Amino acid sequence: MSSAEKAAQALPGLENYDLRVLQAIELGMIQHQIVPHDEVLRYSGLNINEIDHRLDILYKNELIYRERDPYLGYLMNYNGYDLLALNALVKSEVLEYLGPSIGIGKEADVFEGITPSNKTVAVKFHRLGRTSFRDTKRKREYLADRRHSSWQYQSRLAAETEYKALQMMQEAGVQVPEPIYQNRHTIVMQYIKGTQLSDIISLEEPEIFLHDILENMRKAYKAGVVHSDLSEYNILIDMDTHVWIIDWPQYITKDHHNAEEILERDIGNITYYFERKYGTDMTRAEAITIVKN
Ligand SMILES: Nc1ncnc2c1ncn2[C@@H]1O[C@H](COP(=O)(O)OP(=O)(O)OP(=O)(O)O)[C@@H](O)[C@H]1O
Ligand SMILES: [Mg+2]
Repeated sequence: MSSAEKAAQALPGLENYDLRVLQAIELGMIQHQIVPHDEVLRYSGLNINEIDHRLDILYKNELIYRERDPYLGYLMNYNGYDLLALNALVKSEVLEYLGPSIGIGKEADVFEGITPSNKTVAVKFHRLGRTSFRDTKRKREYLADRRHSSWQYQSRLAAETEYKALQMMQEAGVQVPEPIYQNRHTIVMQYIKGTQLSDIISLEEPEIFLHDILENMRKAYKAGVVHSDLSEYNILIDMDTHVWIIDWPQYITKDHHNAEEILERDIGNITYYFERKYGTDMTRAEAITIVKN
């Protein structure tokens, strides 16, 4: 079971006090590598008789790690972080429950979600700096190098950045999933019922799709944005044969010192893919002219 699924399963069984203790550990992790027991007590505002029971519940649900060396303390893991984000989405009435997984990858897990008004949405959990805690050496290294390199910070930043990109791109008229909500390392967006370009077996008129993609890139560039990871994997084609550009956390702006080079690489990925798979004859140079126009 994936981390988000574990979190979704644990959430209904938890009480507000359990969540308060988990939030206390989340908060403590800004200051501490391992949040000391006393700090959990202090941040949570619960009394000493209550806290150990709550910590046991979190521990049994695999939402936190317990450390005894060099002192007794706690760390939240991705299950715990997912749970806090899901709780916030539910409280804000953005999400009713988490549906099946759409894609589990290296840097993100994407799920279908159902809203209180029974609409399907996409829920993306960013996963940067994921560390295997089975490996003690890596764990030590990870603990030694935190804060701005912490997995929490990195994955929250990725979600914030992607959310902002989706807002800007929507504004610029680029076909992107509508951004709905963002909390911690998650974003909720419009669900696109479609297929990745890479999974499509044949296209009737590939030139039309190629032009459509380039037109979206042109609009993005006009708004000062370069996707920076554009490929057949980050383009969806829906039932009405519309093109959707997804996966924006690594976008850069026009004033980035390598913006042109990166834009041209993005364009090259697309013209090369269409040429190889569909035999289109548009060159990269021609496509660049279209996008920069
Ligand atoms: N809004 C959406 N609607 C429908 N499906 C989506 C949506 N967003 C993402 N997906 C699906 O989930 C997959 C992964 O999403 P995305 O490309 O945004 O993440 P990723 O960072 O590439 O993850 P990975 O680490 O797996 O590469 C997409 O290729 C697509 O199939
Ligand atoms: Mg992707």
